[in-house]
Amino acid sequence: MHHRNRLLLSLLSVVLGLATFTALAALQIVPGGTWTASNGEHLNAHGAGVIQVNNTFYLIGEDKSQGSSFFAVNCYSSVDLVQWTYEGALLSRTSSSSGDDNDDLGPNRIIERPKVIYNDLTKKYVMWMHVDSSNYGDAKVGVATSDTVCGKPYEYHGSFRPLGMESRDIGLFKDDDDGRAYLLTEDRKNGLRINLLTPDYLSISGTTSTHLFPTAIESPALLKLSSGRYYLFGSHLTGWSPNDNVYTTSTNLSGPWTDWKIFADKGSNTYASQTSFILNYGNGNVMYMGDRWHSNNLQSSSYIWLPLNITETEVILKNRGSWIPNADSDLPWTESPAEKSYEGEQGEYSGGAREVSCAGCSRGKAAGYIGGTSTNGSITITGIKSNNGGEGGVTTIQIRYKNGDTNPRYAGVSVNGGAPQKVAFEGTAGEVGVSSVVVRGFRKGSGNTIVVSGWEGAGWGPDVDRVVVPVE
Ligand SMILES: *[C@@H]1O[C@H](CO)[C@@H](O)[C@H](O)[C@H]1NC(C)=O
Ligand SMILES: *[C@@H]1O[C@H](CO)[C@@H](O)[C@H](O)[C@H]1NC(C)=O
Ligand SMILES: *[C@@H]1O[C@H](CO)[C@@H](O)[C@H](O)[C@H]1NC(C)=O
Ligand SMILES: *[C@@H]1O[C@H](CO)[C@@H](O)[C@H](O)[C@H]1NC(C)=O
Repeated sequence: MHHRNRLLLSLLSVVLGLATFTALAALQIVPGGTWTASNGEHLNAHGAGVIQVNNTFYLIGEDKSQGSSFFAVNCYSSVDLVQWTYEGALLSRTSSSSGDDNDDLGPNRIIERPKVIYNDLTKKYVMWMHVDSSNYGDAKVGVATSDTVCGKPYEYHGSFRPLGMESRDIGLFKDDDDGRAYLLTEDRKNGLRINLLTPDYLSISGTTSTHLFPTAIESPALLKLSSGRYYLFGSHLTGWSPNDNVYTTSTNLSGPWTDWKIFADKGSNTYASQTSFILNYGNGNVMYMGDRWHSNNLQSSSYIWLPLNITETEVILKNRGSWIPNADSDLPWTESPAEKSYEGEQGEYSGGAREVSCAGCSRGKAAGYIGGTSTNGSITITGIKSNNGGEGGVTTIQIRYKNGDTNPRYAGVSVNGGAPQKVAFEGTAGEVGVSSVVVRGFRKGSGNTIVVSGWEGAGWGPDVDRVVVPVE
């Protein structure tokens, strides 16, 4: 569909969406939250990319549970971009590091920004990644392949410098119109390169780049729309700290490209995030996927995923507390409905749970001593109103919390007497954080109850500031 029509359709359905809302599963993306995957842990796929196979999205990224050194490349699957099933590790740390290629995956190595595309000729899934030593001196790319997207570990084929040049952050792009694929690579000495791959996608084709931007840009991500226009996104070089990321467009990968421009609000540092991937998930929906790095506790780094508004000449990214991607329907994304808060400390306490003071929390208070190995504290919040009663009452709620630990805490969250689900709460380093939780069994009306309790064997849960519920 032509851009403008899609835009109209999207505006129209924002209006219509309000009327049909109760019929939809109102699953929301909550940028910056702790997102608990099917394994009960915060989604661990940083610097990620997405490959869509049939109707399933596979999110493939870095496991940062052990800090900056390589530990694993993880894969998660989802049909709605909100509920993620952990599929397993596609690459894992090997035991030794003697310096040869097979030890790229050894201790104290760097593997970053893994990206996967499918090769129609060889019928292999091909992964490219940034491979480095701990001081980032190697500056190479690595390649791995598999017969299945996430069904088993990938076979690692080794590393090299593309066209003999230093390569740090990478991106990968397959042009579905002609099947050609390209490596985007940050060559610190010369700039950002677009390099054509060989037909098997395992090496660089030829001896020159398709294009070289003589500009210091990292974390590259490339998108092509049905109009035939390419949009290339990237970040300036400011280490783990975010900056105002930029984009350029062209109708030809060889250029000419437009001047680099910002796409998020000026001075927002791209809402404190760095470009990781740009996902076109259909029906005019394009999602910006960025990393909010927490350099002091990398495992707690979160994800800033937001809808991109792309016109012929302009790309605009606006910040939102939450939004509904509608990825498993044929609708454009919609704004979240209005929300209502319920204070944790005003709930009913049981076990050892009790009110604690909490700097930064609403009312300066929270429900503390949730969980605990012997006291089993819990908080029960009743009288929660929801209009989202249709379709099994599936929705996303937010739990605002505090966790002063470095490691995540866990709680069981139960709705209307249902079985508790395990929810992760990453360390908040003194700030108030958000955990987003998909719940089932919400009823229309004001008779809903949420219990936040400890998770067996997990010690203390988070301090619960408040529960935020969409009400329409
Ligand atoms: C996708 O669908 C095709 C056609 O139905 C099927 O052959 C293929 O196995 C599916 N791929 C995956 C990864 O499920
Ligand atoms: C893109 O630009 C290159 C270099 O100028 C040129 O050779 C090629 O024909 C162009 N491709 C298209 C589709 O215009
Ligand atoms: C997209 O941006 C255009 C240009 O600023 C604006 O007119 C339009 O309302 C935006 N659309 C959405 C869905 O935000
Ligand atoms: C702890 O309390 C919760 C909520 O009251 C309850 O569901 C759970 O069974 C209790 N666990 C233990 C070990 O007593």
